Amino acid sequence: DSSSFSGGGAVGNREWRIDDSGISLLHRAVPVPGTSFVFDHVFNESVTNARIYGLLVRSLIRAAVDGFNGTAFAYGQTSSGKTFTMNGSGADPGIIPLAVRDIFDTAAEAADRVFLIRVSYMEIYNEEINDLLTLGSEKLPIHESLERGVYVSGLREEIVNNAEQVLQLLELGEANRHFGETNMNVRSSRSHTIFRMVIESSAKHQTNSGDAIRNLVDLAGSERIPKTGADGVRLKEGKHINKSLMILGNVINKLSENGKQRGHIPYRDSKLTRILQSALGGNAKTSIICTAAPEEIHIEETRGTLQFASRAKCVSNCAQVNEILTDAALLKRQKLEIEELRKKLQGSHSEDLEQLILKQRNDMHKSELERDRLAMELEEERRLRETLEHRLAKQKMSQNHNNTDISVEQFADSSQLDVLKTP
Ligand SMILES: Nc1ncnc2c1ncn2[C@@H]1O[C@H](COP(=O)(O)OP(=O)(O)O)[C@@H](O)[C@H]1O
Ligand SMILES: [Mg+2]
Repeated sequence: DSSSFSGGGAVGNREWRIDDSGISLLHRAVPVPGTSFVFDHVFNESVTNARIYGLLVRSLIRAAVDGFNGTAFAYGQTSSGKTFTMNGSGADPGIIPLAVRDIFDTAAEAADRVFLIRVSYMEIYNEEINDLLTLGSEKLPIHESLERGVYVSGLREEIVNNAEQVLQLLELGEANRHFGETNMNVRSSRSHTIFRMVIESSAKHQTNSGDAIRNLVDLAGSERIPKTGADGVRLKEGKHINKSLMILGNVINKLSENGKQRGHIPYRDSKLTRILQSALGGNAKTSIICTAAPEEIHIEETRGTLQFASRAKCVSNCAQVNEILTDAALLKRQKLEIEELRKKLQGSHSEDLEQLILKQRNDMHKSELERDRLAMELEEERRLRETLEHRLAKQKMSQNHNNTDISVEQFADSSQLDVLKTP
């Protein structure tokens, strides 16, 4: 249905008109040239997060279970509904809680596979990366390796077994984020948060596995920060946010350019684009949700948001399943085994548990004894060898002396020596 998309209060001369997949600006009911946009979906304010999730995010969450990377992020000016879309409210849970539940449900359905799910939660504020799951873990560096690709070094990754556990971690992250903060809104509108789930899965009884990364990103406000009236701190914050979002815009612009001639993509120019590199035109399925405020005073910001969205729509990613079998993957597999053991332990009777522990202790004891025995044998052998070597050396020496006419031993044995000693 076609409907107008204007905010409350006095209706001015200009308003946005939307339908299911289009949005355009009207001036006195006449379309303004260059301000009509077509997208996959356009929603008005009455849409639920569940509907957005179902249309835009569910498929990429499900694909995680099959090993595809995926990223969903919210872009738009402050107060346009990014956080509401990502986090939601009790009555209308957002994309993050919906995704978390969906991942565990989907994993439970895939009975032939085993999963190891890890989560991390970080914030980029003033171009610094802070770990939201560990209070005081700040200014973390970005590293890159062949095995892991681009990663944030030292970031806490929590192994999780159920949705409730993840939601608790998210709450912890929010609390840490606002710790000691006097003005929550300033910080949250000026920082980006990246909630990441790594879903490692493998077919039961097999060693190769896939590692799929899910980024759910709540960006800082995309509005232009006013230059006047800002104190030093704000200016710095604003500058960095402009930088991160500006680079994001540049990256999207470059990627939307035609294929082979597009040249260098400036991923490295900001922390945000570096971390999201594989999600932006790389190996990932990506959903971008743009939020806009309908009021007439926000028309310029809304237009900017829609232009960003249009360019982003031209970017085509090539998603591929991640198959890895490296030391890191093996290590993770061991973690998985430990997790499985832990689950088994939790589910088993204490008697079985005690038997298991007893048996493991016995096995360990046996192998310790065996190790000691071997060590002793080795020592014995070493000594024997030394003696033999010593004898061999002696023999060689005596042979040498036999060859020349004067042998020390002969000389020592001879009576001549006595003569010399006692003249
Ligand atoms: N669809 C919606 N339904 C109800 N309230 C909303 C909706 N979208 C945004 N809000 C409310 O509007 C305010 C600003 O939204 P928020 O998500 O914080 O914006 P942003 O993160 O883009 O700065 C919040 O109080 C939020 O609860
Ligand atoms: Mg917000």
